[in-house]
Amino acid sequence: MRMDAMQAIWERRSIRKFADRPLARELIETVLEAAIRAPSGKNAQPWRFVVLQGKEKDRLVDILEAGVNALQAKGLATGSALPTAHIMRQAPVAILVYNPRQQAGGDRNGTNRYMHLVDTQSIGAAVQNLLLAATGLGLGSLWICDVFYADDAIGARWGRQDELVCAVSLGYPAETPQARPRKPVADITTWLE
Ligand SMILES: Cc1cc2nc3c(=O)[nH]c(=O)nc-3n(C[C@H](O)[C@H](O)[C@H](O)COP(=O)(O)O)c2cc1C
Repeated sequence: MRMDAMQAIWERRSIRKFADRPLARELIETVLEAAIRAPSGKNAQPWRFVVLQGKEKDRLVDILEAGVNALQAKGLATGSALPTAHIMRQAPVAILVYNPRQQAGGDRNGTNRYMHLVDTQSIGAAVQNLLLAATGLGLGSLWICDVFYADDAIGARWGRQDELVCAVSLGYPAETPQARPRKPVADITTWLE
């Protein structure tokens, strides 16, 4: 299936129900190839991907759930993290996205603050490319930041010292959600002449 860019932008949805069907490695490689075509500040390409499938993906979800449960036991709010973990459990693939130019829990002040802002934008562009490519291939995806509830434990499990930026769940969609509402462009744009 091929789809033009505007169609992919308009048709992409956050998918929260996935079919119990594995993804061919070639498809995962294709969406990663799309991700790395994103622009990046100074062409630093500040992204690293960890593709988790099968038992390793289940381990990721176990770690997230354990982290969230521990926070809840302390009376802390964990937002949508458990529902997100449930979605990640169904999806055959989880991709962790790291910034190798930042230490996990590192200093974000001074010059590093600007580098961090630039790199985070570059990584966001790569993730959006990945999502749009997935849409074009008929795949479902979900951009996930709820992994922050267990970022230290996730990093420790796979020996990473760098900063976890987000995760993406990927698979064949088992739902076709309506478009979620957007604020009109006219309400969020200032035109100056
Ligand atoms: C940076 C970012 C983090 C997100 N984190 C989560 C998440 O942890 N769990 C989740 O279910 N959805 C998450 N989402 C998906 C948003 O809820 C979703 O994009 C939004 O509601 C709009 O819906 P749409 O993507 O279908 O247009 C995230 C989206 C972005 C861009």
